[in-house]
Amino acid sequence: MSNMKQIAKMARVSLGTVSHVLNNSATVREPVRNRVLEAVQALGYRPNQVARGLRRVKTSMIGMIIPDITNPFFPAVVRGAEDVSFSNGYRLILCNSDNHHSKELVHLNELRSFLPAGLIVIPSNFSDLTAQAEVYRRAGTGVVCIDRLPTNWSGDSVTADNEEGAYKATRHLLRLGHSTLATITGPLHLTNANDRLGGFKRALREAKVKLAPEYVQEATFDKAGGYSKTLTLLRLIPRPTAIFAGNDMIALGCLLAIREAGLRCPEDVSLIGFDDLDFGETTNPALSSVSQSGYQLGATAANILVERIKGNSDPPKHVVLETSLTIRSSAARAPN
Ligand code: RIB
Repeated sequence: MSNMKQIAKMARVSLGTVSHVLNNSATVREPVRNRVLEAVQALGYRPNQVARGLRRVKTSMIGMIIPDITNPFFPAVVRGAEDVSFSNGYRLILCNSDNHHSKELVHLNELRSFLPAGLIVIPSNFSDLTAQAEVYRRAGTGVVCIDRLPTNWSGDSVTADNEEGAYKATRHLLRLGHSTLATITGPLHLTNANDRLGGFKRALREAKVKLAPEYVQEATFDKAGGYSKTLTLLRLIPRPTAIFAGNDMIALGCLLAIREAGLRCPEDVSLIGFDDLDFGETTNPALSSVSQSGYQLGATAANILVERIKGNSDPPKHVVLETSLTIRSSAARAPN
């Protein structure tokens, strides 16, 4: 394994110059810098991140914890965070919590020992992030929470305007003449699921449309949740003519259940999802959905973090990104 002494020898410079080039800590003349970088490359030198971190207190690593990369919403979030991290000289390390707060805790504890420059977290169900972030903050490490916030979160955050997005979707269904509406929410202790329910209820309240409690079904944010809760909704009398699904994965389960029940979407039951994932264009019928930018969520979080790493100590930022309604074919006029 090559070391800094060998680089100095090959580039015919002092050890100090090598260190300045590697740490970007002093202006080194271009030809000299190039000689050092060429030697670094020729010798295949990789700085030991942990050793560098110990000297500089932090490594150039940013940790990111998300629920599950196999959920099609999250890759774009990670991509946004990584692009911004990378272009600022940081490398992203990704961990999945599988939505279990105990696994999230393992990641939070272990990542700390790698001395990350910062952390971006989409909290798991029942996350303990608020307490954990305090430990990071005491060590001078920024934590940005995105997409869904744990209760009492007061640090930096980036979310979509979930309430407004759900409101727009529900207004659309009301304008199509639906008066028996239902919703299948995500886990309601998550702020995004709860805010989406809030937007749904606001639209009904404003239109003076009644909502009996059984027309609100809480599910996990996935296809299985959407499927089983749709079967429950389809047994209600009167049967809902429109469903607002808490996300597109839930909507996928709704489509399946509607079809299996021998009903048609949108002729018998209209449907709108949330997230506007790519597959929405190819479902049958194509899924109308509230669009939020996962990429922007991740990129904005990483930008905030980079500012914090540079020393920005302004009060916590709470960025709320706009949502819009993408209308395709899954919502139609209410049946007579
Ligand atoms: O399954 C992905 C969903 O959970 C999205 O709606 C997103 O907001 C996340 O929290």
